[in-house]
Amino acid sequence: MSQRSCLSIILAAGEGTRMKSAVPKVLHTIAGLPMVAHVVKAAEAAGSGDVALVIGHGADDMRKAALKFAPKAEAFVQEKRLGTAHAVLAARAAISKGYDDILVMFGDTPLIDPEALAAARLKLAEGTAVVVVGFRTENPSGYGRLIEKAGKLVAIREEKDCSDEEKKITFCNGGLMAVAGRHALKLLDQVGSKNAKGEHYLTDIVEIAAAQGLDVVATEASFENALGINNRAELAQAEGIWQARRRQEAMLSGVTLVAPETVFFSHDTEIGADTIVEPNVWFGPGVKIATGAKIHAFSHIEGATIASNCDVGPFARLRPGADLRNKAKVGNFCEVKQAIVEEGAKVNHLTYIGDARIGAGANIGAGTITCNYDGYSKFFTDIGEGAFIGSNSSLVAPVSIGKDGYIASGSVITESVPDDALAFGRARQRTLPGKGKELRERFASAAAARKKG
Ligand code: UD1
Ligand code: MG
Repeated sequence: MSQRSCLSIILAAGEGTRMKSAVPKVLHTIAGLPMVAHVVKAAEAAGSGDVALVIGHGADDMRKAALKFAPKAEAFVQEKRLGTAHAVLAARAAISKGYDDILVMFGDTPLIDPEALAAARLKLAEGTAVVVVGFRTENPSGYGRLIEKAGKLVAIREEKDCSDEEKKITFCNGGLMAVAGRHALKLLDQVGSKNAKGEHYLTDIVEIAAAQGLDVVATEASFENALGINNRAELAQAEGIWQARRRQEAMLSGVTLVAPETVFFSHDTEIGADTIVEPNVWFGPGVKIATGAKIHAFSHIEGATIASNCDVGPFARLRPGADLRNKAKVGNFCEVKQAIVEEGAKVNHLTYIGDARIGAGANIGAGTITCNYDGYSKFFTDIGEGAFIGSNSSLVAPVSIGKDGYIASGSVITESVPDDALAFGRARQRTLPGKGKELRERFASAAAARKKG
């Protein structure tokens, strides 16, 4: 298979008006990744390295976005929306390069299974000219019906062109098609527009190929492969299916999810075996978790690296650049951003750590804040190995606390503290015997005088 060259053509010229959005439909995300990028990933997973993206006129946002999720993809503009065959032909220059396999996919159908693509490619390798990936449904309305004669696929009929009898067919076109490269252009160029919509239908190549005696087959895949997104309700439905699959995968790979339906992954979340994830945890993009970590309830984690046996949350927020080394602890109501928390260090309660390094075994007391921003620039705080930061301290960056340094509670630290030093950054306490009582009496009589008057 891998020796066969393959081009994936992804149609993404859709208008997407039903999304009611300023963002092109296919750039709406599932698991934090644009839906069209999911399609690109599926194509790549099926061994299709070259991607042609067919976009609409003036789709500058699409071009820009594509540079990120598919830097190698070539974009082709379909100036007018004249149908799916017309859209595929926008990529004529790419098709002409001469590929063994051509895959056609829709950019708004993000749950495509790479295995369905690979199965279709296998059929091409056996000499089939056109492979249609179909699915069965009790509610086929809106889909093209797969018309078979004597067990052979002979045509695809769009709903609007179906006879009443044909409308009863429940075997439908999912929209995925694989075409042998050597036949592709010849077949596409024969597609006309004599149908209810007056469009050039890609699906017509089935009838054209079958009439010429070429081998045409339908394979069957699950409905998800055909789930096209047209509005935000369908977007949420696809997200739900994606998350359910990912949770299952995580659990089967050794991750405990106490309440799986409440844990949300991103497209790129990596999570090692024996990690326990409590309920209501959100993983944004860029999270890597090694083995044996505990992620307690209600934590929000993105762009973070979490090493083995770390303890996070409950109610922790790890932002991009949070880098927790082995056995580090970040507890409740703590936020960590762009900071290394070295082995065994503890940031347990109500703390903000940003632009910092916390040395191994250091203990950060409740309410500690790294004051990293002066309204214009960000500054770094370095906390040495074994340091102890007393509760409710403010560390005004740039500043460093030496190894085994000790900061008294309630300090505002503006100057660096050397190794083993003790630093106070607060007013000394004064205790005045009897003064409390005297004060109360004075206040009470003042209040009584006011009432009388
Ligand atoms: C299409 C199939 C139908 C199948 C269904 C599965 C055709 C003719 N019909 O119907 O058999 O059951 O998908 O969902 O292919 N597009 C362009 N340019 C165009 C027209 C369409 O880029 O000129 C893109 C759309 O953005 C979309 C895809 O092609 O991503 C499919 O087009 P759409 O109009 O949604 O086709 P359906 O009627 O859903
Ligand atoms: Mg559609």
